[in-house]
Amino acid sequence: MSATARKTAPLPDDIRARKGGEPLVSLTAYTTPMAQLMDAHCDFVLVGDSVGMVLHGLESTLGVTMEMMILHGQAVKRGLSRAMMVVDMPFASYEESPAQAYRNAARLMAETGAGAVKLEGGVAMAETIAFLVARGVPVMAHIGLTPQSINTLGGYKVQGRGAAADRLLADAEAVAEAGAFAVVLEKVPETLADRVTGAIPIPTIGIGASAGCDGQILVVDDMLGLFTAFKPKFVKRYATLGEQAEAAIADYATEVRERRFPAPEHVFADTLPEQKK
Ligand code: KIV
Repeated sequence: MSATARKTAPLPDDIRARKGGEPLVSLTAYTTPMAQLMDAHCDFVLVGDSVGMVLHGLESTLGVTMEMMILHGQAVKRGLSRAMMVVDMPFASYEESPAQAYRNAARLMAETGAGAVKLEGGVAMAETIAFLVARGVPVMAHIGLTPQSINTLGGYKVQGRGAAADRLLADAEAVAEAGAFAVVLEKVPETLADRVTGAIPIPTIGIGASAGCDGQILVVDDMLGLFTAFKPKFVKRYATLGEQAEAAIADYATEVRERRFPAPEHVFADTLPEQKK
């Protein structure tokens, strides 16, 4: 069922069942008001660890903590009634062992009300994904450009070109086999994204991938033009809210300095206006 027709949030199995159907729509969110704006339009909303860069001014996602994800997860959950919420597992909260991953995933779900968690990694994380899924934690996987690994990937480069394509396909097959209900494909060549989408039984969610993926995701502040520090090629700006906000703030500053704000309609009289007879 499409997001606009739905009254309640889909379950991970509903998302999985959309393989090959109407494309899944998703965005990131970090706050209640933004979650409210997207609730009727998105199938799922991701509380991404991009929150660290987008809202907290961090240089990468590596400094994001469990506490940040829980705080933002709780805020987003208050704004959703029709979209499923997925929360990112932050760097160093799951890589050590399946048991560590379970402890932190269970905490994220219990304290935020998330319907699923997302974690980065393919073949290397397959055992952990299977461990979580077997214990009631639905997992969305994330392969290709995995920003938590920038120090080993050597930056935010396109992944899976040339000989690396087969490794990326193996990653996708491993996470599907391990029980992930969907997989994010970030910054991979279009033909490879289409190949992966055709090869695995779970939905692929593209970001810098292909329109042929089973769904798409973008960082909301990127597509609204609120985050302007840089713009990846794969981002389409649907609005320029950052520019509009700055212009509004500049107008406010001018009016305050010129004593044009507050105007008569913004201030209070000493006595109540006479009641109409
Ligand atoms: O953290 C995030 O926002 C993400 C998306 C880019 C998929 O993982």
